Amino acid sequence: MTDTAPTPTPRPTTVKAVRNGPLQLKGTFRLLDPNGEEYDLDGQRIVLLCRCGKSKNQPFCDSSHVRTGFASDDQPACETDDDEGAA
Ligand code: FES
Repeated sequence: MTDTAPTPTPRPTTVKAVRNGPLQLKGTFRLLDPNGEEYDLDGQRIVLLCRCGKSKNQPFCDSSHVRTGFASDDQPACETDDDEGAA
């Protein structure tokens, strides 16, 4: 038996597509701008990223999706047997 407590297994970072809303990042991550500069998230472990394109605070969600009535299409794009041969 050892004197040290077991190290907790870190929970994986998750990305959740919120229905008719943003992408929710939860966990430990670094968010970089197009120049590779890291956003200062001030220790936040949950961040909402805009996917409606209407936020005035890109890349973050500012809830503009509610005002604009953003409707997400959360069905996975996949090809089915029914698609084959369709013209
Ligand atoms: S998803 Fe919320 S402002 Fe775009």
